[in-house]
Parts: sequence; C-alpha cells; structure tokens
Amino acid sequence: MLDYKNPALSPEERSRDLLGRMTLEEKIGQLNEIPLSRHKIADIEQEIRAGRVGSLIYATSALAGDEDQFCGSLEDRQRCQRIAMEETRLGIPLINGSNIVHGHRTAGPIPLGQAAAFDERLTEDFAAMSAKEAVTDGIHWTYAPMVDIARDPRWGRIAEGFGEDPYLAGRMGAASVRGFQGKDPAQPDRIAACCKHYVGYGAAEGGRDYESTEISENTLRNTYLPPFKSCLDAGALTVMSAFHENDGTPVTASRHLLTEILKEEFGFQGFVISDWDAVAQLVHQRVAAGRREAACLAVNAGVDMDMLSTCYVQNLPELAAGGEVREKTIDEAVFRILCVKFRLGLFENPYAPPGAYGKVVLHPEHRALARKFAARSIVLLKNEGDILPLASQKIYAMGPMLRERESLLGTWATESLPEDVITIAQGLTDALGSRVRLENTALLDHSLEQARNADVVIVALGESSHSSGEAKSLGSIELPAGQLDILRRLKRFGKKVITLVCAGRPLVLSEVADLSAALLYCWHGGVEAGNAAADVLLGREEPSGRLPVTLPRHSGQIPIYYNHKSNGRAIDEYYGDVEFPNYVDMPGSPLYPFGFGLSYTEFSYSDLQCGKADEDAAEVRVTVRNIGRRSGFETVQCYVRDDVAGVTLPVRQLKGYRKLFLEPGEAETVRFRLDRNLLSFYDRQGRLVFEPGSFTVWVGGSCLTGLQGGFTL
Ligand code: BGC
Repeated sequence: MLDYKNPALSPEERSRDLLGRMTLEEKIGQLNEIPLSRHKIADIEQEIRAGRVGSLIYATSALAGDEDQFCGSLEDRQRCQRIAMEETRLGIPLINGSNIVHGHRTAGPIPLGQAAAFDERLTEDFAAMSAKEAVTDGIHWTYAPMVDIARDPRWGRIAEGFGEDPYLAGRMGAASVRGFQGKDPAQPDRIAACCKHYVGYGAAEGGRDYESTEISENTLRNTYLPPFKSCLDAGALTVMSAFHENDGTPVTASRHLLTEILKEEFGFQGFVISDWDAVAQLVHQRVAAGRREAACLAVNAGVDMDMLSTCYVQNLPELAAGGEVREKTIDEAVFRILCVKFRLGLFENPYAPPGAYGKVVLHPEHRALARKFAARSIVLLKNEGDILPLASQKIYAMGPMLRERESLLGTWATESLPEDVITIAQGLTDALGSRVRLENTALLDHSLEQARNADVVIVALGESSHSSGEAKSLGSIELPAGQLDILRRLKRFGKKVITLVCAGRPLVLSEVADLSAALLYCWHGGVEAGNAAADVLLGREEPSGRLPVTLPRHSGQIPIYYNHKSNGRAIDEYYGDVEFPNYVDMPGSPLYPFGFGLSYTEFSYSDLQCGKADEDAAEVRVTVRNIGRRSGFETVQCYVRDDVAGVTLPVRQLKGYRKLFLEPGEAETVRFRLDRNLLSFYDRQGRLVFEPGSFTVWVGGSCLTGLQGGFTL
C-alpha cells in the first residue's frame, strides 16, 4: 500500500503520498525555516505544533560565523523534534541545519586552507568526521560547502571557499559533499550538504560583501557555475541561493538561475533554500514593493525554503488563493523538501543519539585528522639557505599570533571553543622543549632584547578571524598595523627570521617576504593549528601546501588571478610580462602564483609526452623525480590552454593534479587523461561544446612553471 510511513517505498513515492494528505497550510509550513533561539523557545514550540515550521536553523543572527550564539541545548532541539513528530497531524520531522563549514567542535583549517592541501581524500575525511560530530548535536544538514569562486582577497568570505579556480573548487566541493553525505545520507553519521552561495556571490564589486556583481552569462557558465555542477554531480541534496544581484536581478528572484539553469538544465532534484532573510531583502533590493511581493517573486523563481524571513508562511496562503502563486509551485517545493527528509532517513531516525556528543567530539582521532589537515594546508613560500626544517638550538618565538586561540579557529567555527585550541606557543614548546624561549611581554622593545641571544626567531603574524568571513571585507589587505615593524626591527638586529602568517585571506606580503628567511602561510588552522605549525617547522610533516589563490604584491593589483583571458595587444615596454601585464608604477605579476609552494626537497620534471589516448581523450604523461635528500610531497599540476576557441578562454586552466610522496631519488610517471568533457566549455549560446583543435599543456609545480607540450584532439 502507498503509505509515506512505509520505509520500503522510495523517497519519491513516500513524498507523493504524504503530499497528497497535506493541507495547503501544512505544505506552506514545510517551506519555513526559523532560527532556534533559546529566548523564544516557547513561541517556537508553538509554531512547530501548529505545523508552521519545516526546519530549524541553529543560528540566531545574520553573522552566525562571527558571534557567540546560543541556539538551544540538545534537549531543546530534541524536544522541538518530538513536537514535530508527535504533536503534529502528520508527524513530519524537522530538518535542522547549521553552518559546519570547517568542522563542528573539532575545527580544522578554513576551506581556503583545505584547498591548499590539494587533497580530496583529506577534505572528504574531514567533512565525514565533522558530520559524525554534528549528528550528536541534533544536526541533520550543513550549509556547506561554499564553492563561490573568489578573486578579490578584500572580500572576507574568500576564507570560506576553495579559492580562485573552478576546477579545484569543484573537486574540493564534491569531496566535501561526499564526506558529509556518504554513499547513503540516511546512515546515522551523515548529514545533508548544501552548496552555496548559488551563484556568483564571490564577484561582489570592490570585494564588499553583499554587493552587486556584473557577471556575463558566459563567465557565469565557464567560471562560476562549474563548481556547483560538480557538487550536484556528487549528489548534493540542497543548494542555497545567494544574496546578491547580477544583471538586474537578485538571485533570490532569478527564475533563470534557479529554475531554468539549476533545476531544468542541471536536473537538480533537491531543494533550494534562500540565504538568511534574503526573501525579505528583495524589498531592500527594490524589486519587490513589500514582503508579499517578495514571497511571490522568490517562490516563483524557484526558492523552495525561506530561511528566517517568514515571508512565505505569512503570505503564501493568500498568494495561492489569489492565483499569483500556483498550488502546483508550492507542491513542487514541498515535494523536493520531503524527498530530502526521506532520503536523510529522518522519518525513521529523527533524534540525535542520546549521550553521544561527549564521546564523539574532539575524539583523539578527530584531533589527529585536524592536525594532519592543518599541517598539509600550510604553504612554505620561502626557505632561504634551507633554514627549515629547524635545526637551531636557540630559538625565540614571538608575535601577536603566538598565543592566539580564537583567531586560529577561523571564521565559521561555531561550536569550537578557544580552550580547545593548541596555540602556536604550545605546539612549539611541546615540540622543542628548552630549545625555544617564548616571548613573555607585550612590549616590542623588551621582546627584541629577549630575542638577541637566539639563533633564529619565529614570528607569528596574521589577522584576526574577525577580519575575515561574512561582512568582514577589508579595504587594505596589508598586515595589521605594527606587525611589519617587528620584522623590520629584527632585521636591524641581523636576526634570521622565520615568519608564520595566520590569515583568512591572501595578504600582501611583499616586504614580509623580503624581511624573512623563511615564510609559511598557515591560514587559520583550527584546534590543532599550533601542533601543525610545529610539525612543519620541524619537518615531522613535509611541507606540502600549494596556493589555491594568487598572492598579490600590492592591493592595487586586485583582482589578480592566474586564469585570466589573453590580451589582444602586447606592447613590450608597457606590458612587459604578457602573462601578467605590468602597471606603469608596479609589476603586474603576483608575489606568489597560484599552485606555488616549496618542499624541503626538490623535484625534477622530465619526459613530457602528450598525445591522443583515443577518439575522446588525450593523455599527458610526465616523470617526476625527487632529486633532493629528503622524502617529500609534490603536487603535480596539469594546465591546459585551448589554443583557438569560439569564445575567449583563460590563458591556462588547471585540468588535473596529483599529489605524490616520493623518497629521495624515487621517480613516478604521472598520467592525466584529458577527455572532451574536461576540455569543453560553454559557447555564446550557453551550450556546452567541445571544439576540436590544438591544445597547449604545461605540467609542473605551479601555474607558472613546468614543461610545455601540446596535442590535437
Ligand atoms: C550566510 C550563509 C549562512 C546563513 C545561515 C548567512 O548570512 O550568508 O552562508 O549559511 O547566514 O547562518
């Protein structure tokens, strides 16, 4: 018999049956997500009882990533679910969401740092571990991964995504989705993923959060949409629409983006949730005269669930009665949401496992994973005279990030606590014992005196986690005031300096690099950041991070990214470097390019061979050898240029990478299969096409180095 309670039926059959039993009010209730705030708990319970809530969000303000929030205890969460299950007519469970962006209680590196590890296995394992922790806290759904391509480091949210490259972001996004959801999201330790912010949000003008974008259809399709497509192909159950407007339409009201492209063209079967209050914000964006019209625009565009604004629950009954919103549209949204709830197994397992939280979170295995991930995310940018790995006996460690806890957690560590963090001071002391002396004064002069006797000085610099993330854009991406002074004065003492930079974005480090013998980019590394930094400094972990984003020399170069288009005109004196045209007053090239990162050993590339593999694909082969004296990781990167195409395409695009671990003297032949699918692009009509012809290939250790070859397909 068709009965939604029968788990033997498919999610679609169960949803269809359930939908058939629902009143219009019950349906509209499913489209409503409200925040679980401790203060209003009695009201919230009443709303759930009345069938007016489909989902709770564990966030109590717009800036959940940056504020202490109390979103109810686990008992509150369980009680709300019990009300939905037992005190509503049809017993439909709530789907409860939270922002688990880089860990639940066990925070790991910010996503930009995760991308630097160039390691999908780690990304997937870390997401799986986060899901395992989250379910013990009554969470069924995370608002992650964020796969917004970001090319303006002033934009604070660059921290939350995987950088400037669509291929890398797509691979990392898909790995996160697999980690959160597993093969079967109904398994008790999995949660639903939500890829966000669909689409183009990272192109905010001037790097100012929530600002307009001006993205052409072609750029949208070739640059901003592909990472979303990868997440959908990996099975992402939900998508969040973005706040901003593009081309005259806020995404929240864009039928073209949400229905025509996402649901119809890409065949997305899950549901779309708005961003925080974004339905009501259509009024501020002045495309809706009021909340009623806002609800009408959003639901007709394809936003299925309304986060926070309550515009739907208040206005859809009347809009449906008046025919401005067809009941069929509401049915489709409800159907999508119910299907996800069934797929997640919520009807069978609506509650968090009692007593599990304390046993699961911060488990030693979770900490070990966070430590490894943080270490692998660190990018060694400079290592003059092989000062690293640390061999010195007398080390002095100082700087504003030395004892920092909260900032190392990064922007979206909503459940992690500062006391969970291993500081850099702690990590160094545990690793070096009496070989290291720690700064114990806030006065620079005093500290410099203490540093006098040391052979090397480790200086931990960086920015607060409150300088990156949502609504945390910076006009200047220099180090915070005073930090450079530390390096300048150490230089005067003639000290050898090893600089660690902990940041949520690319910072301008030109002078820092000049003043440092060694430079490591450590991002905001999470609860194990201190141990991870020590691991890399000592060479217990070989440095293996590679930049997922370009580091500019100067803020004036922004936006600067490796995969820009070819110029028509190249006048030598002016342009100088065709790859990165110069300014009259400064070079155009980056300080450190995309894909760059050093090791404690060296690698050689040889025997590049490019040719046709079969009718559908080319094969690129290269031999990579460890020619140094230590074992180490190399991230072999394959970039391709389509030599002539019907639309302008980037000067080169990452199309594959492999992370190798090679012993001294060891060599490996790496193969990349470049099929038509990988080499296709969207043409002027918005069609995905493959154009036969010649392609140039580079294989190397960054976007600007490597052997060059080519093939025709
Ligand atoms: C952010 C989203 C987040 C949501 C819920 C919004 O302000 O843009 O990324 O998922 O809040 O906390």
